[in-house]
Amino acid sequence: MIPRKLILDVDTGTDDAVAIMLAALHPALDLVGVTVVNGNLPVETCTDNTLRVLDHVGRSDVPVFEGADRPLVRTDFPIPRGSGEQGARYHGETLPIPATRRRKERSTAVEFLVETYRAATEPITLVPVGTLTNIAAALAAEPRLASLVPEVVIMGGGHEIGNVTPAAEFNIWGDPEAAARVLGAGFPKVTLVLLDATHKALVSYSDCERLAALGTPAGMATSEIVRFRIDTHEKWQKMPIAGTAPVHDALCVAFLVDRGILATRRLNVVVETAGTYTLGRTVIDVHRRSGREPNADVAFDADARRFVDLLAETFARSGE
Ligand code: RIB
Ligand code: CA
Repeated sequence: MIPRKLILDVDTGTDDAVAIMLAALHPALDLVGVTVVNGNLPVETCTDNTLRVLDHVGRSDVPVFEGADRPLVRTDFPIPRGSGEQGARYHGETLPIPATRRRKERSTAVEFLVETYRAATEPITLVPVGTLTNIAAALAAEPRLASLVPEVVIMGGGHEIGNVTPAAEFNIWGDPEAAARVLGAGFPKVTLVLLDATHKALVSYSDCERLAALGTPAGMATSEIVRFRIDTHEKWQKMPIAGTAPVHDALCVAFLVDRGILATRRLNVVVETAGTYTLGRTVIDVHRRSGREPNADVAFDADARRFVDLLAETFARSGE
């Protein structure tokens, strides 16, 4: 089997860290590079965290490219430099992983994305799991990008659930203009993984015990990181099942390996960029009222057991 190539665009971040480990270690995946964007934390911190994670699981060979340090057009809102107190609450100051001796690449995230897709001779799936600033900037630099990228899997948006406002999910709210451009760009195959789906794939304290017991760097790091997420969620944003937390970004990577892990519907999605109370909302045409063509496979549901089993099976092999 030829591993599926992918590029991850991250704002690492606790759940991004688990996504990186899964992408770096699963034998069916070939992580070509990681691009980093402002979001959970200031972009320099996200880059440092990304390098730490890759080193920790023995994948220092994967290049890391830093990208945007602020939203595409907004200068003072929503998150010019990381997401402040909320970012530290869910993602800590830095990850509980040893420091890196490695550096980011000299090229920027946009340069890497544009050059890689222009030169690609095999399909490379793009998986953005932070704000969509880097992707929108790459589209501006290379308008053909939408036809060069065969598949995009985005963590973003919510229908029943918002997490940063009642109406909006963080990655879309963090740069709504960028998100609107990406969803309107005409990529041929977009999967949008909503909070509605990630909140179904909850990971529990007992799952953390299982991961820690693997004794591998990835298993133990994921256990510690997810425990931190559960502690935070218990305090600030309780899940319907006590003692659990979503690990949003890793679910997008899991979907590349196991397409049955998400339940999707093909629908039109646009992003609100002007609302007073609804800024950054993904407006999903579930009842087909708009007359707009579907532009995404939208994930509303996920299989928690398959997700946790996939993490445990993958991280059991790491460090062998
Ligand atoms: O809303 C969840 C998303 O926001 C995740 O990607 C998390 O890492 C944060 O960026
Ligand atoms: Ca993220």
